[in-house]
Amino acid sequence: YLISSQEMLKKAQREQYAVPAFNIHNLETIQVVVDTAKELGSPVILAATPATYSYAGTPYLISICKQAAEIHHFPFALHLDHHENLSDIKSKIEAGIRSIMIDASHYPFEENIDIVREMVVFSHKYNASVEAELGRLGGQEDDLIVDDKQSAFTDPDAAKEYVERTGIDSLAVAIGSAHGLYKGEPKLDFQRLAKIRDKVDIPLVLHGASGIPEEMVKKSISLGICKVNVATELKIAFSDALKQDFNIHPDANDPRHYMQPAKAAMKKIVEEKIRICGSAGKL
Ligand code: 13P
Ligand code: ZN
Ligand code: NA
Repeated sequence: YLISSQEMLKKAQREQYAVPAFNIHNLETIQVVVDTAKELGSPVILAATPATYSYAGTPYLISICKQAAEIHHFPFALHLDHHENLSDIKSKIEAGIRSIMIDASHYPFEENIDIVREMVVFSHKYNASVEAELGRLGGQEDDLIVDDKQSAFTDPDAAKEYVERTGIDSLAVAIGSAHGLYKGEPKLDFQRLAKIRDKVDIPLVLHGASGIPEEMVKKSISLGICKVNVATELKIAFSDALKQDFNIHPDANDPRHYMQPAKAAMKKIVEEKIRICGSAGKL
């Protein structure tokens, strides 16, 4: 069965590591994440955006993940990443998903609170955990495109009020990370993160972790980040290896063969991120 993120993130918070959340898209990417996390004994969150649920089909995704959990005797969360539509989220919870992000970060403060509050009341009836974002990350994540002018950092005082009034279980913070890769070195505002952590006692979430150097991710974990979201680096590893394999074997046509190097390349990134998060053996 599919679990909520609540217990995983609380344990990570107590023991000062982070649970990695990997974006998946299909059978192969689910296999890589689940097999690797199971091997390393790491708690894990499988994240999918609205576009991924549409692409794969929500019942297919849920079924594959439930089977994966059962086959491996390995409970994990299938998560709604950056979901915005309330009725869509509600129907996915009714279909069995127990870990959600409601992204109302593009709304003004009061509206953001109202929308998220409604989602929290609904989700908690199902014991589904709720993550929400205050401030706004830049960059591109599927259909979600935020340019620099629209992006905004999280205000620590507002974060405190936001968490109290919404009742969310975890908070996605905007401290300088962005979706996708970075032009040049990313800058994270650690002082801001420390202030947020002082004012907010729930687990904090770092989006846009692809392209952030190891030491910066580790430092953010030491300052209260309990969930680290990785998407782009996995996609790049997978597709680069696939392209390379077709270059070497232009006549390849068997997915059972040409998917293998791609899966192996993606697995390396999953292993590396689990190591950076410090989540191995924390199951
Ligand atoms: P990256 O693509 O930068 O890893 O961001 C992933 C993310 O934040 C998913 O919500
Ligand atoms: Zn994100
Ligand atoms: Na990124």
